[in-house]
Amino acid sequence: MHVFLGITGASGAPYAARLLEALAAADCEVGVCVSGAGVEVLATELYGDASLPRDEVLARLIEPAHGAARIYDPNDWKAPYGSGSAKVDAYVVCPCSMGTLGTVASGAMQNVIHRAVSVALKEGRKLVLMPRETPLSEIHLTNMLTLRRAGAVMLFLAPGFYHGAESLDDLVDFIVGRALDQLGLENQLAKRWGQ
Ligand SMILES: Cc1cc2nc3c(=O)[nH]c(=O)nc-3n(C[C@H](O)[C@H](O)[C@H](O)COP(=O)(O)O)c2cc1C
Repeated sequence: MHVFLGITGASGAPYAARLLEALAAADCEVGVCVSGAGVEVLATELYGDASLPRDEVLARLIEPAHGAARIYDPNDWKAPYGSGSAKVDAYVVCPCSMGTLGTVASGAMQNVIHRAVSVALKEGRKLVLMPRETPLSEIHLTNMLTLRRAGAVMLFLAPGFYHGAESLDDLVDFIVGRALDQLGLENQLAKRWGQ
């Protein structure tokens, strides 16, 4: 399965890192595109140093994917995700900032992540957006409704606690498991209701 993973500048870097690892473990080919703000959040939340250079952050991020992931620059308009003619099975933005959410809800495209979302919508392909913000303004809520109506799955970064979570990793796995479910990828990352 060929998956696009956009990482933007909302809090929630551990979800992105775990999702990338899980996609690679599921034998997916993953094209990764990280916005400038996304790099800053990864550096802050995963590596504890907001000033780490972009290349260093991205090298550390994809290392656990063991060659299954390839990085694309947000301004690389030659990337396959810029056109519907490229064979891509699913598109995920995790975490998805309110900035990216608002841009794509308006139909605007300023980088490859926005363009990939737009392509997924126009081609009717699987698109999972994983936003994080709180509280939410009417503008945020309207943008989410617009995107849901256009065909995106809104998978909010809000883990449940009913599966007996004992650690942060359990909460991260809960969300990543739900994302993999949306992509049709078999997983046992979190205990399922009724199990
Ligand atoms: C450490 C950090 C945490 C942030 N957390 C959030 C957040 O949870 N949600 C959000 O919408 N924006 C958040 N922001 C602000 C976005 O990064 C900012 O709006 C940026 O312009 C988004 O651009 P992008 O969508 O291209 O990544 C955060 C920024 C930083 C530096």
